[in-house]
Amino acid sequence: MSLFSVQGLCKNFGALKATDNVGLAVDAGQIHALIGPNGAGKSTLVNLISGLLPADAGSIVLAGTDLTPLGMHQRVRAGLSRCFQITSIFRGASVRANLLLAAQAHAGSSMRFLRPRDAEAALQEAAAALAQRVGLAHEMDRIAGTLPHGAQRKLDVALALASRPQLLLLDEPMAGMGPEDSERMTELIQVLKDDMAILLIEHDMKAVFALADHITVLVYGKVLVSGDAEAIRGNAQVQAVYLGTEEVA
Ligand SMILES: Nc1ncnc2c1ncn2[C@@H]1O[C@H](COP(=O)(O)OP(=O)(O)O)[C@@H](O)[C@H]1O
Ligand SMILES: [Mg+2]
Repeated sequence: MSLFSVQGLCKNFGALKATDNVGLAVDAGQIHALIGPNGAGKSTLVNLISGLLPADAGSIVLAGTDLTPLGMHQRVRAGLSRCFQITSIFRGASVRANLLLAAQAHAGSSMRFLRPRDAEAALQEAAAALAQRVGLAHEMDRIAGTLPHGAQRKLDVALALASRPQLLLLDEPMAGMGPEDSERMTELIQVLKDDMAILLIEHDMKAVFALADHITVLVYGKVLVSGDAEAIRGNAQVQAVYLGTEEVA
């Protein structure tokens, strides 16, 4: 049994089948990459999984829980977390304030019986642990919007980690990054894999082939092929789809 699975998922925008009977499964402890040319339906699929968009048909199951009827917040509580292609940080607040807010949002009732001073200490500790996790421990007092782009993406990942997800959705975490930042983000994702399964949407094929245990290729809303990195690399249909584009180096 896979940790996470999607079956028969469909989403139409008018006459356009943006998601056309998609099925995929992510096993515990794995990084599953979703690739495909622009307009293939990657973001739509992520929006359906996170609950931002309602599906027209199909089911989404995480660790035995049917997420399909649940709203976005309930899906987070069920163990799903997402990083957005557009960063979701509060740019005018410090890194610490961003992390405290995220920690507080997910602490919920566990803080109810603590004295205020102890609750505050627990939140500070959680925020510090999140910063440590993504390598931002030395930037806690920095205003988030003044961080370099790569560090802002790391903060965005830290916010997604606050809910302690079983499955993390990463929608183009390397977007807009230079080679050095991409390299560091690749290392971070590799470390996160110890604690959660990851569904990674990414254009950077170097990162995809370095990280992914399993790759699904989406074209025109449909799964073209799904398999391990070697199977995908050698697949003639995949090569044909990408031939002449710059997305696959
Ligand atoms: N809200 C929407 N309304 C209408 N069409 C959309 C909407 N979102 C995406 N599409 C269309 O659905 C297709 C898939 O888009 P998208 O999921 O963004 O692909 P990708 O992320 O793979 O580039 C595209 O043809 C896009 O124009
Ligand atoms: Mg997209």
